[in-house]
Amino acid sequence: MSIPRKVLVTGGAGYIGAHTAVELIEAGYEPVIVDNLSKSDRTLLDGIERITGRKVSFFQGDCTDESFLKGVFEWAGPFQAVMHFAAFKSVGESVENPLSYYQNNIDSHVVLLKTMKQFSVTDLIFSSSCTVYGQPDVIPVTEDAPFKRAESPYGATKQMCERILEDAYRGGYRVVSLRYFNPVGAHPTANLGELPIGTPNNLVPYITQTAAGVRPKLTVFGDDYDTPDGSCVRDFIHVVDLAQGHLRAMEYLGTAPPNSYEVFNLGTGEGVSVLQLIKRFIAATGVDVPYSIGPRRSGDVEKTYADPTKANRLLKWKPAFTVEESLQHAWSWEKNIRNIK
Ligand code: NAD
Ligand code: WQD
Repeated sequence: MSIPRKVLVTGGAGYIGAHTAVELIEAGYEPVIVDNLSKSDRTLLDGIERITGRKVSFFQGDCTDESFLKGVFEWAGPFQAVMHFAAFKSVGESVENPLSYYQNNIDSHVVLLKTMKQFSVTDLIFSSSCTVYGQPDVIPVTEDAPFKRAESPYGATKQMCERILEDAYRGGYRVVSLRYFNPVGAHPTANLGELPIGTPNNLVPYITQTAAGVRPKLTVFGDDYDTPDGSCVRDFIHVVDLAQGHLRAMEYLGTAPPNSYEVFNLGTGEGVSVLQLIKRFIAATGVDVPYSIGPRRSGDVEKTYADPTKANRLLKWKPAFTVEESLQHAWSWEKNIRNIK
């Protein structure tokens, strides 16, 4: 029996990392999860074990802590690759508390790169975001679209982490940055999903919590944008499709030359408005979502969706799930955690 190849998954107790850990296990890899549980708890680690029937390797600690990370590489390695999800991700919180965002997201990135070098681990898949583009001039947006000044400290950390990779990859690394559009949905088994702390900022958890009666109604932030129905347009991508994108990226890096760096959009290529998404949720689940129109939310981009051609072509990646399936899976997860039949 061959020994499973190990992949370090930072932030693997969180939403996207946990879904990726499942896909890794199902593809015959052994994810080694590192997380400080600052924005999560053990719920999703349990979910991974329920889905896969396997005990997950987990080390609780902080990626900004050099000696901790070194210990993980020493004791749990060698790693074939690293998938770096660990970061703070709330736009609003980053405006309130910019320094903790810069410290956490940048320090962990630099410490991780240095530790990889020390242990001769070359392959890194970095969680970037469509937030690096701001409001693109041309839609669908391609990877060569210029960065605008980031609207938030969170967005600035993603731009800076990409800049650090552009400067550092020639030091013997093979790196892919994946710019996710709007990750939504949950594992089809309803054992994993999004667990927002407090009131959700993101649209889909707000929809599912409203459908579950946890929130009385949803406010649509603005219906006077220059879009077909006046509400903002986004590219909603199923989290399991994103997870699959990481496996494709790791395979791609396996055949890439040393000192290489590529950036990929991970989105569906379909623009869906906020009002359309609410209607599609109601149609797909048969559950009502009371909503009203409110003022615009400051900092919101009017319209963005991906041109995913580069990922389709080079990573051989294409989303498998529809928006309806994303919404049905998000709803099944919400019902599961609320004990709704
Ligand atoms: P999440 O908050 O669910 O997961 C992130 C995990 O990282 C959490 O479990 C948290 O405890 C952990 N973490 C944070 N800082 C850490 C540190 N210093 N050391 C160890 N663990 C740490 O977020 P997510 O939605 O799964 O996002 C994963 C990655 O994808 C992040 O880098 C995020 O910026 C990026 N991203 C997310 C979205 C989105 O909308 N969810 C979109 C684009 C990009
Ligand atoms: C989507 C649309 C809201 C809630 C954020 C980050 C981005 C990336 C993905 C990490 C917008 C509208 C929302 C509500 C609403 N994350 N909305 N009522 O803003 O596209 O992107 O997550 O990298 O960086 O900024 O996602 O889900 O917050 O909003 O009308 O209660 O839904 O105005 O148009 P967003 P979102």
